[in-house]
Amino acid sequence: VFSHVVQAPEDPILGVTVAYNKDPSPVKLNLGVGAYRTEEGKPLVLNVVRHAEQQLVNDRSRVKEYLPIVGLADFNKLSAKLILGADSPAIRENRVTTVQCLSGTGSLRVGGEFLARHYHERSIYIPLPTWGNHPKVFTLAGLSVKTYRYYDPKTRGLDFQGLLEDLGSAPSGAVVLLHACAHNPTGVDPTPQQWEQIRQLMRSKALLPFFDSAYQGFASGSLDTDAQSVRMFVADGGECLVAQSYAKNMGLYGERVGALSIVCRAADVASRVESQLKLVIRPMYSNPPIHGASIVATILKDRNLFHEWTIELKAMAERIISMRKQLFDALRTRGTPGDWSHIIKQIGMFTFTGLNKEQVAFMTKEYHIYMTSDGRISMAGLSSRTVPHLADAIHAAVTR
Ligand code: LMR
Repeated sequence: VFSHVVQAPEDPILGVTVAYNKDPSPVKLNLGVGAYRTEEGKPLVLNVVRHAEQQLVNDRSRVKEYLPIVGLADFNKLSAKLILGADSPAIRENRVTTVQCLSGTGSLRVGGEFLARHYHERSIYIPLPTWGNHPKVFTLAGLSVKTYRYYDPKTRGLDFQGLLEDLGSAPSGAVVLLHACAHNPTGVDPTPQQWEQIRQLMRSKALLPFFDSAYQGFASGSLDTDAQSVRMFVADGGECLVAQSYAKNMGLYGERVGALSIVCRAADVASRVESQLKLVIRPMYSNPPIHGASIVATILKDRNLFHEWTIELKAMAERIISMRKQLFDALRTRGTPGDWSHIIKQIGMFTFTGLNKEQVAFMTKEYHIYMTSDGRISMAGLSSRTVPHLADAIHAAVTR
């Protein structure tokens, strides 16, 4: 009965790892998926995560019971504080509902499903380009996906005029997906002044912000700085949705830990919204897993562990920034044609190189360097040892 089923294509991002794993070359390099690697090219478990896990193992009172549908209460409270700020009036006034979800993707999906059921406008505007999973998540949630201009390939920077025009002509009430910081895949963010203009425009048209915050602490090295865009929208008293992921900033990729917060105008609304979120979650996966959320809650509520986390987070962010400098210098040394200053200007995990599909295919075939076909490279996958190999490949690709 299944013989008609056709072979599906690999995922454009996770499929890069599948191809990488099949390559026997000793010089192969995976710059596809956004996953942090050490200078030795190894995945990193943060020391603070090991310490938190040790505490959890030693606590014999811990059991493996089901969590509530909305997840671990401490985790939810602390996650809202982390993104909105400890002194957020919205939290103080109980206008925020936070539910634990399966990392960023799960939080986006639950938020999307909630909007499709309970919000009057079905259009969601996503930036062009954006993370490849965004359009799929929201379409399957039942929303109608549209795009707004974001990146200008000519300047390799923000197309601010295009963004304002497109949001300006969106229907009143439309949902707008915003990357809180470290835009994926471009590494290009609005300045604080531009954020303020975006906020004013969106509020004047009653556009509903849905933030995807996957890199808090990774862009600038500061948790507060990377949350500024979200906090700006919450400070004006209006509604917004925020999807948080702890995959990158705590290195908890496979633990699938994230949260969806919905900021409402009043406490009674937030409580009714939460009751409906439970109806979305229960038939989907019943309730979320306990281990990853316990690690996060343990770290966020302990002053010493929290401090240890911020130091390790900053070290990861700084290593990525140093990779940018090294790659930029290596291309300059080689006299590679073109202006490569965007490598040091862009922020976060990725560089949007400007290399085209053919150049990417050439680099994979000849140099065993794996990256997404849009020319995005994960700077977090690079090390001082592998920078020369990448620079050689880029040089060969653009001069051939
Ligand atoms: C990425 O963009 O590489 C990451 O967010 C990982 C993923 O799930 O795609």
